[in-house]
Amino acid sequence: MEHTDVPGDLTETLLTEQQIQGRLRELAAQIEIDYAGRDILLVGVLKGAVMVMADLARSLDRHVEMDWMAISSYGSGTTSSGVVRILKDLDTDLTGRHVIVVEDIIDTGLTLSWLISNLRSRGPASVEIATLLRKPDALQMRVEPKYVGFDIPDAFVVGYGLDFDERYRNLRCIGTLSPHVYS
Ligand code: PRP
Repeated sequence: MEHTDVPGDLTETLLTEQQIQGRLRELAAQIEIDYAGRDILLVGVLKGAVMVMADLARSLDRHVEMDWMAISSYGSGTTSSGVVRILKDLDTDLTGRHVIVVEDIIDTGLTLSWLISNLRSRGPASVEIATLLRKPDALQMRVEPKYVGFDIPDAFVVGYGLDFDERYRNLRCIGTLSPHVYS
């Protein structure tokens, strides 16, 4: 759906569909160069990364494997208990693989800092991160993504995989949610 399908719900469109697709093509081109001669395994983190994975993978001019993980968030709300649980693990053996974790957003960094150390313990040849969005002002953990689409302000954003209460994931753009929707 478009922002016009949810009139009044967004205070602003942060990134249009065209901006998102253009940036993903740039990231894909860089990945092609960086991984020349090496097979890539893309690991998506459900559910938010579904759109990024679909479009990033299709922007690559070569074969890639894709696999998925589902992990629970860390405690209630946004509290940083550091507890992360695997709800669905990978089907793929990571031994010797070149892994790129694909995410929609790095907010506090808690999810990815846990996930990266978990994946590194499985004997991969390399693990890097590709994230469409990053909120530098919200970062609590040291996470160093090799590929970042956009740095964004610390606001409540939805669309292109990002939800509020499981809604707005199928919005084509990314926008700032109006406080009247969530308050
Ligand atoms: C979102 C997003 C990341 C995580 C980032 O997932 O997809 O996985 O939060 O936040 P952090 O940097 O503060 O850890 P969420 O838990 O909302 O689940 P979802 O992907 O199913 O929407």
